[in-house]
Amino acid sequence: MVERKCIGGIAFSKMEFVKEKYGDEGLKRMLEEMKKMGYDGPGRPEDIKLVKWYPFEHNLVFLRAFMNLFGKDAYRRMARGSFKREERFKMFIGWARTPEGIITNAGEYWHKFFNFGEFHGEMLGEGRARLVGRDIYVDPLFCEFLTEYFAGLLESAGAAGVRVQHTACAGSGAKECVWDVRWRATKVDRSISWSPALETGIEEIDRQHRYFVKILNDINSSISENYRSAFLRALRFMDHYAHWHFGSEEKYMKMYDYPQYEEHCKEHEKFYEYTQSIMNKAELQGITPALAYEVDKYLVDWLIAHIKGTDRRFAEFLKSRKLSMPEEQMPDEIKENIKG
Ligand SMILES: [Fe+2]
Ligand SMILES: [Fe+2]
Repeated sequence: MVERKCIGGIAFSKMEFVKEKYGDEGLKRMLEEMKKMGYDGPGRPEDIKLVKWYPFEHNLVFLRAFMNLFGKDAYRRMARGSFKREERFKMFIGWARTPEGIITNAGEYWHKFFNFGEFHGEMLGEGRARLVGRDIYVDPLFCEFLTEYFAGLLESAGAAGVRVQHTACAGSGAKECVWDVRWRATKVDRSISWSPALETGIEEIDRQHRYFVKILNDINSSISENYRSAFLRALRFMDHYAHWHFGSEEKYMKMYDYPQYEEHCKEHEKFYEYTQSIMNKAELQGITPALAYEVDKYLVDWLIAHIKGTDRRFAEFLKSRKLSMPEEQMPDEIKENIKG
């Protein structure tokens, strides 16, 4: 078997925690305790290299020493809070953004910290998820650490009333380590407010974009009540309104010989491809809350980036040539299709 290792950031964040909570004296006591158990790694947090791989045994010795010195309650607090000192985790939370994002990306993230085992996170419903680790069992202390750690992670991503239970453990004969995770579903506010930053200065484009934003906000606010219908509405919206709006931009780009016509269309094309891939996914796996949130996030991110960059460039072109886009009537059929 390959030697189990973990990334330095893990030890660093724990040592920092000790230093902050118990001072230099606490750190000294920890090191003495760890040395008694044969530890021979770096002695101070600043000596640990964040991105270097260290023997996993170091981590285990730390957990044991901490439990011996400070007891169970402190151990739990440490497990819940230590990651906050770790840059990668701050990045992870910033990037995954929501509890659902944390769950569905947990597997990928595991490998950034540990060189062994497989990890998998799956949403079971709103505010319900399961985390499964295969070949990750080392010691009950580590499992206990993970239990609290997941809770802390989800809280940081905005979940309230988090409950994490270690329902099956490879240490007691189960095939895999399983955690049952629940939290009170919270509304994730991804609403966009219309602001000058989104304005292109071409009235018709802005009018259509304002409508885009309005529908997105509608979808956004209904997702936590009924993710299924919010998802279906988002798909209809992507399929109908987005098509219409892109078509309208493309028509004038072509008419006015816009030099970046191809590049601009390519971005719209990517949006269609995404729409298609989501339809396929929904067909294969069914509509899940994770999928609904994923689409919601994509729409918001895509729209803002596209308006601020690509559409604005086209608007600048129109303005520089004193060209305009007349008001277009949205076909009734589209209106009908994207109704709530
Ligand atoms: Fe566009
Ligand atoms: Fe646009």
